[in-house]
Amino acid sequence: MAKIDFKALKNKAQKDINLAKDLKELDEIFRKYLGEKGELRQILHSLKDLPQLKRKETGKLANQIKKEIEETLKKKKSNIQNLISNIQKQEWVDITIPGKKPVLGHLHPLTQVKREVEEIFQSMGFSVVEGPEIENEWYNFDALNIPKDHPARDMWDTLWLKDKGAKLLLRTHTSPVQIHYMEKNQPPLRIIVPGSVFRHEATDTRHEFQLYQVEGLMVDKEISVANLKAILAEFFKRFFGKNTAFRLDPDFFPFTEPSFNVSVTCVICEGKGCNLCKKTGWLEMAGAGMVHPNVFKNSGLNLNPPAGEWRGWAFGFGLERLAMMKYKIDDVRLFRSGDLRFLNQF
Ligand code: DAH
Repeated sequence: MAKIDFKALKNKAQKDINLAKDLKELDEIFRKYLGEKGELRQILHSLKDLPQLKRKETGKLANQIKKEIEETLKKKKSNIQNLISNIQKQEWVDITIPGKKPVLGHLHPLTQVKREVEEIFQSMGFSVVEGPEIENEWYNFDALNIPKDHPARDMWDTLWLKDKGAKLLLRTHTSPVQIHYMEKNQPPLRIIVPGSVFRHEATDTRHEFQLYQVEGLMVDKEISVANLKAILAEFFKRFFGKNTAFRLDPDFFPFTEPSFNVSVTCVICEGKGCNLCKKTGWLEMAGAGMVHPNVFKNSGLNLNPPAGEWRGWAFGFGLERLAMMKYKIDDVRLFRSGDLRFLNQF
């Protein structure tokens, strides 16, 4: 038997062990050197062929190397195990801890109400249409039959924009969209127009300088105030979830004839009279009426015979008012106050 280079064997084994990256590799190294068919095992097996003296000496050396390799393996194994357990500790997840609930926001109450109104009218065949918030005098006033220098113009305290050319303003109501829409579309028409409007106005529990309106316009053959009433009744019933008392009172708007205002029983005082409804028990929700012929004319709609049988009605709801009556809110300013105690209730 050739002379065995135990030193080289030991160095080789130790080098292998150093390079091992995981327990599996360590296991392979164990088998390579110390396993049944491992190099050291084979050496130990072959000892029986050696003369007795030599056998003893070589056996001793072999056993010593075996021990050393075992030691090194053991150390490396525990190093790797520590490493693993450190990683596990760092990545440990206690799946029994109750989860952290992310704070979810929600839609603003006015957005919720706006969507609800849209859904109800859409289900009755109305399209939702939008229009510009910056208007000129023609659309906001003239086309709606509100002549220049006519006292009716004072009904809308207007925010004017500084501009070099045409006189521009922030629309004071959504009614101008009636004109925009009728310029481009032929009857029959059924639209609602939700959107922001702006007023140069002092605020109080019922008034804001920025608010939402929902304009409605229906143009069809042989329609009348009776259709308007039926649509309003259906809308209130679905919006408030029950039959709701409402009434039409005579009013004046230049773009409708006849004109009405639409009121519902004040929910704050349940009709008994409070500050919000000015002790009347009723709160005005909308203006409405039959579309004035001049409005059709100014939109370029040809209503001469045989098209002459077209009729139209229109309304303009205050969206904040609707929300106030739905949720018993007695101050319109709360909506845009940014007060989370208020908003979180919705
Ligand atoms: N635009 C009116 C306002 O802001 C409300 C209104 C009244 C709209 C009568 C209409 C209407 O469409 O027919 O006060």
